[in-house]
Amino acid sequence: AQHLIQTLVEWLQEAQHTVVLTGAGMSTESGLPDFRSNQGLWYGRDPQEIASVHAIRHNREDFVDFYRWRIKEVDKYQPHAGHHVLTRWQRQGFVQRIITQNVDGFHHQAASHDVIELHGSLRELYCMDCGHRTDAKRYLQDKGEVCPRCGGFLRPDIVLFGEMLDTQAIEAAFDEARQAELFIVLGSSLQVSPANMLPMEAKDAGAKLAIVNLHDTLLDPQADLLIEGKVGDVLRQTDEWLNKDEA
Ligand code: APR
Ligand code: ZN
Repeated sequence: AQHLIQTLVEWLQEAQHTVVLTGAGMSTESGLPDFRSNQGLWYGRDPQEIASVHAIRHNREDFVDFYRWRIKEVDKYQPHAGHHVLTRWQRQGFVQRIITQNVDGFHHQAASHDVIELHGSLRELYCMDCGHRTDAKRYLQDKGEVCPRCGGFLRPDIVLFGEMLDTQAIEAAFDEARQAELFIVLGSSLQVSPANMLPMEAKDAGAKLAIVNLHDTLLDPQADLLIEGKVGDVLRQTDEWLNKDEA
């Protein structure tokens, strides 16, 4: 796969506008499970069923329980070296924008800037009745889901299955895809829309598409460069080449 890494290095050096889209495969090396690999089911729950507005309405107890667990989980882990490589590439001008489907906030924690969090983040809660916003850690307290201001229901600031994404975020993401000369997907099965429409949006606007993933993705046939491997390894090796002249 050395020649594949070499190609990625050259493309990163040549492209004036590089956009990176990350998925759950970006965080498994931090310790967080992804959604659709074999250990995809969490905590014995099916994310599609418990991560839903339906669950808030008809299964609120389980919903709060599941997100209490999720918020505790994310708190237990932190960004890995790969997240920090992306932050360095932003600083060095190799990457212009990072778009993520992940809600773990690891890009934010690794000090990447202007990250487009398409599915929101587990950092904050908001009240469904009065809009009050507060730190997600509140969920770890007893009755943490009760709004301190109005007594309403506090929910995580993420996009649940069946919900619309924040229009500003999705418009910014499509705008970035159209500007991209190089669009790199890291650790996503590309099965969830509208995020999975971004790579073709970029390609149709003339970008090269690189996919780094452990297993196959929906868009592998469209990839100009396909690297089957661990995101952490690929980022480390690519970074070594990109910065090898540096003392
Ligand atoms: N390196 C490279 N690829 C990896 C790694 C790794 N270390 N670990 C897992 N992968 C790959 C898996 O092979 C899988 O194809 O990452 C992909 C993760 O795919 P999903 O589990 O489907 O996650 P994602 O694509 O981010 O899901 C999108 O679906 O559940 C919703 O809203 C949720 O944001 C999520 C969205
Ligand atoms: Zn409230």
